[in-house]
Amino acid sequence: MPNMSDDHTHVQEFFGARAADWDARFPDDGPAYAAAVAELGLREGDRVLDAGCGTGRALTPLRATVGGSGVVLGADLTPAMLQAAVRAGRDRDGQLLLADVAALPVRSCSLDAVFGAGLISHLPDPAENLRELARVVRPGGILALFHPIGRAALAARQGRRITPEDLRAEPNLRPLLAGSGWRMTSYVDEDARFLALAVREG
Ligand SMILES: C[S@@+](CC[C@H](N)C(=O)[O-])C[C@H]1O[C@@H](n2cnc3c(N)ncnc32)[C@H](O)[C@@H]1O
Repeated sequence: MPNMSDDHTHVQEFFGARAADWDARFPDDGPAYAAAVAELGLREGDRVLDAGCGTGRALTPLRATVGGSGVVLGADLTPAMLQAAVRAGRDRDGQLLLADVAALPVRSCSLDAVFGAGLISHLPDPAENLRELARVVRPGGILALFHPIGRAALAARQGRRITPEDLRAEPNLRPLLAGSGWRMTSYVDEDARFLALAVREG
């Protein structure tokens, strides 16, 4: 049975090996991130976390949305991903945290939104980890689970098939979120993107 540190090591090895050319592999994703960020309904001055921020591809549109008076945090477990974010200059758009989203160094109810791109399928205990994301967001705040391509396109890219157990399938994701303090308000899974939005229950 893997323990938490095995999970950390696996994530850090997997993404550490991919960090240096992560952005070069997906050069055309920028507009999809900007469009997804626009759907969070953030306002000037809001406080937002990019959970599993990787190289920080969402940090620039998040900063552009909340402005200089807002707060943008990017948390990731893999040092090499955060180093790539710094090399790309994205630490100017958000404060980078080397942190596990399962135990965030962030006060309860202190954020307006969490954005998580390509994150959920890597979490060791999705129900518990989504609860931790709910802890840091105020009631009425927003969670966005995003991927720049849909589930079928991603499975094809990875040479696998989607199974009914896939936790991002709508019939699985809705109750998973509900059990973790989130009410799913919209769900889109098309070739061009995956985006599930949820509201933090009071
Ligand atoms: C598929 S990548 C996506 C990176 C970035 N969000 C993007 O869209 O380009 C997943 C990221 O999640 C991070 N990650 C996985 N599990 C994590 C955890 N428990 N806490 C923090 N980050 C995690 C990995 O290190 C990796 O950078």
